[in-house]
Parts: sequence; structure tokens; C-alpha cells
Amino acid sequence: MKLNVLFSPIVADELYFTGKTSVVIDVLRASSTIVTALKNGAKEIVPVATVEFAVKVSGGMFGGQTLLGGERNTKKIEGFALGNSPLEYEEKVVNGKSIVFYTTNGTKALTKARFSENLFVCSFLNLNAVAKHLVSLNNNVEIICAGRNNFFSLEDTVCAGKLAAEIISMNPEVELNDSLYAALALNEKYGQVLLKMLKQSEHGKLLIENGFDEDINYCAQLNVFDVVPYYTNGVLKLMK
Ligand code: MLT
Repeated sequence: MKLNVLFSPIVADELYFTGKTSVVIDVLRASSTIVTALKNGAKEIVPVATVEFAVKVSGGMFGGQTLLGGERNTKKIEGFALGNSPLEYEEKVVNGKSIVFYTTNGTKALTKARFSENLFVCSFLNLNAVAKHLVSLNNNVEIICAGRNNFFSLEDTVCAGKLAAEIISMNPEVELNDSLYAALALNEKYGQVLLKMLKQSEHGKLLIENGFDEDINYCAQLNVFDVVPYYTNGVLKLMK
């Protein structure tokens, strides 16, 4: 089993993922929100790469059963029912709903990797569940950090390192490469102080400036949900 970490989706084109097993990480906040919404009973999440497409897709879906969610510059988009705060995606709001979801980095990374044979979503919230599932598949894995505007992000790379460390603890035969050594080293440094790391990250600071402190506390929780979101036919659902 080989693991590769992409520090930004920009380093590969869409066809790179064809037939691969991939995992997208956007700790702040898209992957944490996706995990929360599905855990709270959302029927499916439709990740889209543009706001225009989100509006178009939602128009063609069943009226009351569809919600538009996501953000621009961390804020809820005009006309959308929900922003990108995982705390908004409560059971009473999302249960049974299809959510068309646009975010600046996370959903773009997901749509870029859509030709993967297996595509999963990981955050700190569900990291152990994803690790166990990947070990059971025993495929090579591309771990894609959504990053920020195509640049590196600390929190996604620490999460990638933690996911890799968890996999290695279950399967010591994993082959290491340079990207993995780097992610593992960052997890060594920050993996025990997730909240502190999130608060000092560039995106964490921006979220705090915009009043989303509670989201950071929430996204720092480790292994609280035993769920694995996967991508199939254009939507994200939970593995049974
Ligand atoms: C993203 O996809 O860029 C993020 O989830 C942004 C955010 O924190 O809302």
C-alpha cells in the first residue's frame, strides 16, 4: 500500500485521479461540514465547483427536499439556505435533505477528483473511520489537501499526516515517500494540539476574524463520528 499526499489540488489535473482511490481533506470547514451533515441524516450532498452551477442544479431537484449550502469568503451566499458552518447542519435542518454544496476550496477539490474509482471525505471528526476503511481496501491512496486558493494549508496537511499515521499503525507495510514524511512530521509537531494549530493557521485566523470561533472548536474534535462519506454518481453519501 502506497500513500501519496497532494499539498494542493493544483498539483494534479482531473485525469490524474482516474481509477485511483482518493481522499479529500478540507478541515476548515468543508470536509467537517460534509461529515456532520451526512451524520445528521442528510440524504446526500451534491458538491459543485461554481455558485452558478449550484443554483442551476438545485432548480432541477425536488423543491422542499433540497437545500443550497456553502460559502464565499467564509460567509453564507445570498439566496442560500445554509452557510458553511458545520454547526448549522443540525439533524432537524438536514435530515432527509439533498444539499447542493459550494465552497471555495473543498468542493472544488472534490469535483476535481471525481474520476477516482473510490473517493472519500476525511476530517479530524471521522479520521479513524476513514483510516480503517482505507486499510480494509488495501489500495494505493491519494490524499488531497484542499488547501487555500491552491496554496498549502497547515490544517489539511496535519490531518493528512494524522490519517497516514493512523493507517501505518494498522498496516506497518505502507511505503513512505517524501510527501508522506513531510505530512507525518507536521502531525508529530501539531497532532496533539489540534485546537491550537487550527487557531494559528491562516484560515483559522480568518474564521476567527469573521466570528466563527465555535466552528474551530468543533472541527478540532478527533474521531467523534464513525462515518465515511464517499462519492458516487455525482453525490456524497455515507458508507453503510
Ligand atoms: C473552503 O472550502 O474553502 C472552506 O470550507 C472555506 C470555509 O471555511 O468556509
